[in-house]
Amino acid sequence: MASPTVPAAAAARAQRLREALDEHNYRYYVLDAPSIGDAEYDAQFRELAALEEEYPALQAADSPTQRVGAKASTAFAPVTHGAPMLSLNNAFTDEDIANFDRRVREGLDDVDTVTYAVEPKFDGLAISMTYDDGAFVRGATRGDGYTGEDVTVNLRTIAAIPLRLHGKSKAVPRSIEVRGEVLMLKKDFDALNAKAVAAGERTFVNPRNSAAGALRQLDPKITASRRLHFFAYGIGAADWGDMPAPATHDELMRRLEVWRFPVAVERNVVTGLDGLLGYYEKIGIKRPKLPFQIDGVVYKVNGLAQQAQLGFVSRAPRFAIAHKFAAEEMNTVVLDIGVQVGRTGALTPVAKLEPVFVGGVTVVSATLHNEDEVRRKDVRIGDTVVVRRAGDVIPEVVRVVAEKRTGGEREFTMPTRCPVCGSHVERLEDESASRCTGGLVCGAQRKQALLHFASRRALDIEGLGDKLVEQMVEGNLVRTPADLYKLGVAHLAALERMAEKSATNLFGGIERSKITTLPRFIYALGIRHVGETTARDLAQHFGKLDALLEASEVELLEVPDVGPVLAHSIHSFFAEGHNRQAIDELRAAGVTWPESERVVAAKGKLDGLTFVLTGTLPNLSRDEAGKRIQQAGGKVTGSVSKKTSYVVAGAEAGSKLDRAETLGVPVLDEAQLLKMLES
Ligand code: IVH
Repeated sequence: MASPTVPAAAAARAQRLREALDEHNYRYYVLDAPSIGDAEYDAQFRELAALEEEYPALQAADSPTQRVGAKASTAFAPVTHGAPMLSLNNAFTDEDIANFDRRVREGLDDVDTVTYAVEPKFDGLAISMTYDDGAFVRGATRGDGYTGEDVTVNLRTIAAIPLRLHGKSKAVPRSIEVRGEVLMLKKDFDALNAKAVAAGERTFVNPRNSAAGALRQLDPKITASRRLHFFAYGIGAADWGDMPAPATHDELMRRLEVWRFPVAVERNVVTGLDGLLGYYEKIGIKRPKLPFQIDGVVYKVNGLAQQAQLGFVSRAPRFAIAHKFAAEEMNTVVLDIGVQVGRTGALTPVAKLEPVFVGGVTVVSATLHNEDEVRRKDVRIGDTVVVRRAGDVIPEVVRVVAEKRTGGEREFTMPTRCPVCGSHVERLEDESASRCTGGLVCGAQRKQALLHFASRRALDIEGLGDKLVEQMVEGNLVRTPADLYKLGVAHLAALERMAEKSATNLFGGIERSKITTLPRFIYALGIRHVGETTARDLAQHFGKLDALLEASEVELLEVPDVGPVLAHSIHSFFAEGHNRQAIDELRAAGVTWPESERVVAAKGKLDGLTFVLTGTLPNLSRDEAGKRIQQAGGKVTGSVSKKTSYVVAGAEAGSKLDRAETLGVPVLDEAQLLKMLES
């Protein structure tokens, strides 16, 4: 059926309604000064929606009715930013700021004209939005600064973000990336948490986290329900078209304001160090009353030509800096000091605290990092301590309030057995961490150990990923790697999101992994410090697993490249009864490898040479290149030293290439490497 032709009166009415609704949105969300009531807004909205339904030709992408419309998706596509989204250096003291101001002046030809644009540092999430000929076409998260995630449909639900730049076509650029921060206003955060409490759901930790969570929802309806807000603070790539480019940051901000972006009203332009520090103090006083959370202020050289002259050092601009507020500190009491076992087996002492509200959240525990830290700060059970929390940083114990000591406080001792699995706890001489030695059997390390066991360079169980391992461990289906081999297709098919076919495939993958090699098996055990290279060296040296199991530390030291730390780590791993048992079970389950065959390296062309690979090679993957070098008798290591024979560099090679140049290590490209391998 053909769409009905749109009567001119309907088109004009729709246009008027759109303008009225946009105006209302702007007054309500950006200016915080609505001029019509909710009922009137709703009536106009419904009238427009009805018109657009009757005449689909009227439906424009930038209509206020089209903010939440997109369907839930399954993933966020990558977006390459037109200009990288870099970060700011942080400053904490007046001296840091004096140095910043001095460096700025030193870097400029005309120092007399330096003014600074100063503004709040919003505590939210950076995003970049592209407007082509005034229309919002794409929005993305910061990502790694170069590539972010496409969150356009979610950003469209944020009422404060214009879907079209306000103004005539001559008054908008051809294309521009508008940069700013998505955040949740304090009042919306409180309302969200009140709702969660009423519904008996988990509350959100702070506005920043809930804004981040809301923006990364695959279903834009959920994002829409979270009431996010936005502030613009700059731009990325811009093609100004017929417009002149702005000359200062302040002018740019005024343009953003004209296009109807929310911008901080608290911003200002100041001169000199006094101007900067005065602004910091003023905003610090205003901070508790601001409707959004900030974690400092940002100073930017106002002149855009001066910004360009100053440029960037590594990933941060020389023309701007973040002056952060000090983290909030509060006193509380250490009720106990417990120990947490991490995914890698590290034991972390954790102070259990009398609950205290600090830095926007209620803190009930704080990490004490390691045994040395407990001693250094001399934290005892029963002590009154100062705790601090800044932004997303985990709460920390700053110091003990010694005056409050009563003498009844108790000292902490690191347990000698793992609180989770009972294995021995070890602390190596050159390490600050104490570790559980029950890698394969420790409940805390189980997921990590299984993932490592199944990984590509270990037993290479195809299809056994993160989510599956999590289900297997949480459902107590798998405790040790050997349990994997007891699973039938039916067990696997019963896991979430597993169809019969994928269960059969996974079963096949598990079965196939039984036939392996000794180096892979040793590597799969996840012995601390034993990577692929060491695993290969061990297999080569001992030939048989049993010979390795029985080796003393002294014998282990005979293996090339095995030093005392490694020898000790290997020896104590095999000394642990649990680990022996896990190995026996794997053998009993049918995991085998050719034993007698010593993996003696053939005399190769690259014997005695050490290579470091960096960057992306045009044809070979780094793995493949590494393999070829090793097959030819060469060694591949991770870092460049004077002992490195060659650095093989591809596109976007980084610091390793710089280091090679500094040390005078010869650099090869892929073609030269291949030639060497052939010759
Ligand atoms: S300007 C070249 N201005 O802070 C750097 N950033 O560490 C451009 N932020 O990722 C950033 N408020 O998310 C700038 N007024 C403001 C800001 C601000 C918050 C965030 C931004 C950025 C981070 C920098």
